[in-house]
Amino acid sequence: MLKERAFLVSVEVRHEPGLFTPKDSLLELERLAETAGLVVIGQVSQRLNKPDATTLIGSGKVAELKELVEEQHADLVIFDEELSPRHQRELETVLGEGVRLLDRTALILDIFAQHARTSEGALQVELAQLEYRLPRLTRQWTHLARQAGGGGGRAGGVGGVGLRGPGETQLEEKVRAHRARHRVQRKRTGTPVVALVGYTNAGKSTLLRALTSADVYIADQLFATLDPTTRQINLPDGQAALITDTVGFIQKLPTALVAAFRATLEEIAEADLLLHVVDSTHPNACEQAEAVEQTLGDLHMDNVQTVTVLNKIDGVVAPKVLADLRAVYPESVMISALTHAGLDALLSQIQSSLNSNMTDVELLLPHTAGQLLSAFHQHGRVRSVKHLAKGVRVSGQLPLERLADFAEYFVKPAPVGRAPVTPEDE
Ligand code: GTP
Repeated sequence: MLKERAFLVSVEVRHEPGLFTPKDSLLELERLAETAGLVVIGQVSQRLNKPDATTLIGSGKVAELKELVEEQHADLVIFDEELSPRHQRELETVLGEGVRLLDRTALILDIFAQHARTSEGALQVELAQLEYRLPRLTRQWTHLARQAGGGGGRAGGVGGVGLRGPGETQLEEKVRAHRARHRVQRKRTGTPVVALVGYTNAGKSTLLRALTSADVYIADQLFATLDPTTRQINLPDGQAALITDTVGFIQKLPTALVAAFRATLEEIAEADLLLHVVDSTHPNACEQAEAVEQTLGDLHMDNVQTVTVLNKIDGVVAPKVLADLRAVYPESVMISALTHAGLDALLSQIQSSLNSNMTDVELLLPHTAGQLLSAFHQHGRVRSVKHLAKGVRVSGQLPLERLADFAEYFVKPAPVGRAPVTPEDE
């Protein structure tokens, strides 16, 4: 199939430096375009003191862009900056009917649509696309709609404007309820959950596969993983944990849009531990790691305990990048998900991090304290439950910050600093 021809536009506003240099950001946009199946035929950059209210880049630059686009027969123009609804309308008018106009966000959403493999993933993309298009009344562009076959056709084929109705909301609720039920079950078994987060292409899926021998989809593409995949791992002490892959992050993706991927994000918010996977071979590794941290912060998810994992050390050609990362993340673990180097150390680190705020307890709960037993199941790890005449004897682990709720019911030996109750339980 003949590839569509894309022309890229980078905009730099002086005094408003982004995390990435405009050049690096443009390089990333080029990779995104290629991932979406486009061929990049040219690019222009514009430096401005402030964005033009009407066309973002100013009328002179727009005229130049139009000329280049016509000369090179571009099918699409892609801006590295987010276009406001007004920019979108004005630029579409100038560029004319034959040329489609996208920004970085719309392109990423299209890639998401291509990669959604479950109905839940497709649904999340639909919602995100609708939220994005609604204020823009844009001419719809979905690359996928014109491709034969493809798993995510449903997501790509959503119509342009005003389609969000009660149907979608109900579906969304259904998806969330389904996930929530899964999580409750998981909590009941007391199995800790470890979530992989990281910049797109950092190697999260590869790590998941290396740790679990699971058959997961891996591709040297941006955003190959959209739907969360969960597998079990065994830690060195024999304890089991669940490990879940999540959607990759990227700079400049509006937080509101990231939030549309709630199913995935809820996995992160509820995790006991995050593994932040960093591609140490990438020249922008530090900026990528910072972008991930910013996004986690924007989503109020920066309070979950995190282990930084410097991945791809087999391929590091710039030792300075690694040294810089080590300076920022001295506690990080260095691995290669590809060669499996460092995986044992990583597993030990996961184990000690998971156990760092937990303590062994033995409780005798009165039969009437059903709520406390549920709370133990929810927040702790239950090892055994015995129903005795005097009450329910529970042993397992509780997070330190929850101990106070159970203070009345400890059986000897009580956790450090707590006085035991008289332990006449047997
Ligand atoms: P997204 O789905 O975009 O979020 O990517 P991901 O973080 O899941 O990355 P994925 O596991 O798909 O890996 C991306 C690319 O990096 C693939 O080509 C992998 O083979 C490669 N890769 C992953 N881990 C390593 C590693 O330790 N060393 C090397 N050299 N390459 C790796």
